[in-house]
Amino acid sequence: MAKIKLSMPNLGDARMRKQKNTMTYTYRLDDTYKNEGHGKTYYIYTYGCQGNEADSEVISGILEDLGYTLAISGEDSDLVILNTCAIRENAENRIWGVLGNLKGIKAKRPNMLIGICGCMPQEENATNKLITSYPFVDLIFGTHNIYDLPKLLHEAYSKESKVIEVISTEGDIYEGAPKHRALNHKAWVNIMFGCDEFCTYCIVPYTRGKERSRAKDDIINEVKELVKKGYKEVTLLGQNVNAYGKDLGLDYTFGDLLYDLDKTGIARIRFTTSHPKDLDLKTIYAMRDCKSVMPQLHLPVQSGDDHILKKMNRKYTHQEYLDKIAILKKEIPNISLTTDIIVGFPNETEEEFNNTLKLVDEVKFEGAFTFIYSKREGTPAARMEDSVSLEEKHRRLDKLNELVDKYYLEGNKRFEGKIVHVLVDGISKNNKDNLCGYSENLKLVHFPSKDMSLIGQIVPVKIIEGKTWFALGELVSE
Ligand code: 5AD
Ligand code: SF4
Repeated sequence: MAKIKLSMPNLGDARMRKQKNTMTYTYRLDDTYKNEGHGKTYYIYTYGCQGNEADSEVISGILEDLGYTLAISGEDSDLVILNTCAIRENAENRIWGVLGNLKGIKAKRPNMLIGICGCMPQEENATNKLITSYPFVDLIFGTHNIYDLPKLLHEAYSKESKVIEVISTEGDIYEGAPKHRALNHKAWVNIMFGCDEFCTYCIVPYTRGKERSRAKDDIINEVKELVKKGYKEVTLLGQNVNAYGKDLGLDYTFGDLLYDLDKTGIARIRFTTSHPKDLDLKTIYAMRDCKSVMPQLHLPVQSGDDHILKKMNRKYTHQEYLDKIAILKKEIPNISLTTDIIVGFPNETEEEFNNTLKLVDEVKFEGAFTFIYSKREGTPAARMEDSVSLEEKHRRLDKLNELVDKYYLEGNKRFEGKIVHVLVDGISKNNKDNLCGYSENLKLVHFPSKDMSLIGQIVPVKIIEGKTWFALGELVSE
């Protein structure tokens, strides 16, 4: 099979923020490609963050617009797309494993077309490995060109050759693309794309490009449409939602957007992810004032030590972080706070690690995603000296998790005897006599009920017992 290198990724180019103004285009399916998917099935494997989940909903929408229908599994579908994550090495290792399995399937069904997209193709190392070691992959595209999918698929089907198109410079914004949303009661809503923070450990600013905010009216209209369709909850998405609007040069911030979205009639608003440096008073006041903005905040701290925070380029001290937490707790007393923490950053000392434990003890996060630092080629941290052994990093992670779990449990126990309101997602995985969903504070709640009409509704539940990862309750009437 001849290889054509249309466009290869380049981390150096990706670091540059060249394009001044982001262009906003309206998505339109070119007549040439209409019905090209007719009679074919597709399946998407999605890995990583909510941003990828939202992208997969757009990819599904585009494919269905082309005539494809969703297959039951990847194994028997005509087109398989892997939407990948590059945030840590173990995320990438999973993808290499899945590709290994697909190789066997494709050997039996050579007409199957395999595409790979998302953050991994944006890294030159990963794309080179895809080309040399995974020749059965037909189509490689990045995070900036999912809207070109009809053209890329047309080429992949017609050219008998691998199609590689990864754009490393800034992406634009496309409005109006079809979306096949995974659920009917809660939805992801992108408010911005990319990240300009360049935390030294993180690959995202390279794989997702510069910060680009959607116009506020486009966001508000999308939420209004969702309300009309009966949606109860939206989660606003961005790598740093608190920087919303900065690139637009308008005097309109994330806090303003929350106040405006509260007026759309949507029952619940959540958002992720926040950056402690940019979390401002207006946002905190909007959380306090707007009934629809849920009393829950994910505020990644990464480390409780000032020297490590500096090396990470986080641009705040642990005290500045604690000061914002104090304001949040004062203004929204019922708030549930969660965070992200990295242990074993290059040359992290025992004392520096202990400062993280101290901060966790002080804030009492009700949940945390904890990670061992993973070296990402091309980032500044990858060039830092690191004498901490992997064994020691695992010991630190275990110690941190023990503490985090203690507060997880406390966070669920504090609702015992109280009535919370659960947006019901569906039947509990482990007990088919239970339904489950999330409360205002984003607590996973299970309760006995076989009433399927409750799915997608917000119902009052009295919490009977808080466990570490969830709470058990019973339906009550108000
Ligand atoms: N190693 C470990 N964790 C990382 N994260 C981002 N980059 C890395 C890395 N190289 C974590 C951060 C971030 C979360 C999404 O992933 O904690 O907040
Ligand atoms: Fe990565 Fe930092 Fe941007 Fe988050 S804010 S995506 S950790 S660079």
